Amino acid sequence: MTKLAARVASVAGSRTSGARNKARLLSAQGRNVVNFAAGELASLPPTGVLAATSEALSHATNRYTDTAGIPALRDAIAARMSVETGTLVDSDRIVVTNGAKYGLYLTVLAVVEQGDEVLVPAPYWGSLVSQVLLAGGRPVAVDTTENDFRLTRELLERHATDRTKAILVNTPNNPTGAVYPAEDLREIADWAAERDVWLVSDECYSSLVHPPARHVSLLSVAPHVQERLVTVNSFSKSFAVTGWRIGYVHAAPAVVDAMKKMQSHTTSHASSVVQHGLVSAAAGAEDAFRADVLVTLARSRSLVADRLGRIPHLRFRFPDGAFYFFVDCRDALGRSHQGRRITDADVLADMLLEHAAVAVVPGSAFGLDGFFRLSYAIDEKDILLGLDRLEGFFADVR
Ligand SMILES: Cc1ncc(COP(=O)(O)O)c(C=O)c1O
Repeated sequence: MTKLAARVASVAGSRTSGARNKARLLSAQGRNVVNFAAGELASLPPTGVLAATSEALSHATNRYTDTAGIPALRDAIAARMSVETGTLVDSDRIVVTNGAKYGLYLTVLAVVEQGDEVLVPAPYWGSLVSQVLLAGGRPVAVDTTENDFRLTRELLERHATDRTKAILVNTPNNPTGAVYPAEDLREIADWAAERDVWLVSDECYSSLVHPPARHVSLLSVAPHVQERLVTVNSFSKSFAVTGWRIGYVHAAPAVVDAMKKMQSHTTSHASSVVQHGLVSAAAGAEDAFRADVLVTLARSRSLVADRLGRIPHLRFRFPDGAFYFFVDCRDALGRSHQGRRITDADVLADMLLEHAAVAVVPGSAFGLDGFFRLSYAIDEKDILLGLDRLEGFFADVR
């Protein structure tokens, strides 16, 4: 066969999507799988968003929009960001994209050149690394396990070279649930400024933080790095619209222009209907929905923590944000379940699916073996059933 471009071989398909698909396939075959691998809320979007989106369908939203998104949505996003960050945000610096994922990809394409190194705190959401590879860059994983899953200046120093071009920060973090405090972010921002590197902040889970922790946006603590900072956010997780594919980016004018250029030749823009449907939500009309989601998630988080804490061979750090536990299963590795050796977390995840009908995502999907990710954004009855099954499985691990 005629050869494919080499860049295709530099990445594998998304492992989180892979785990999701595997669980779906088994469910379709009639197995009652508890899907802790989900990366999305179980609920429907807010009724106001559904109503506004159906309304948008019937009102001449069938045409192309501006490349960067409709002005009403960009204005609403900018106004909201201004309030939340205490920094005046100009809507000309906002680009609406097909999900945060595409916003991140456009960012990487805009700033990373062949051979450039990009520091990515590990564990990481896999697409961050794959996107750097697709752009011809070299992702450099910075293991944060020993620092409560947070990056420090010292870790950055240790991994930086004169090819370092950018740092990718993700707070609240997928998969660890860690939320960066202001002091850490300030330190990272100062370091980026000293080193003259780009700073990309993925804040997709910003609305999903449990008090007393609170989300701190890099822009709010480090406005002095605004020209080198790219902030990426999404409606996916906050309004339960992962399938609608809509996110946004805030960046300096040169980056915005670069992104618009590339977006105009690729996806053109995010869906017109969805853009119209989310204007009011972006302006704050659905804050009650967000609050309700947090209450439900807080209850699920306690439930999982309580039960998980009693399962042998598993440990975890209590997550402050997003909706994941990143479970340390290193103590189970090397042991056996019904005569089969658990050599790594990938094998463990397969065994959990096979023997306990529970889907989790192994840590290797996030660049770190010895852990698995468990989402608690699923129905409470599924959580309880899944925990019973996990307990049963690990009772049999020796
Ligand atoms: C850390 C992180 N960034 C970005 C995304 C992409 O979100 P979106 O659905 O807006 O593309 C995800 C989705 O799982 C994520 O976990």
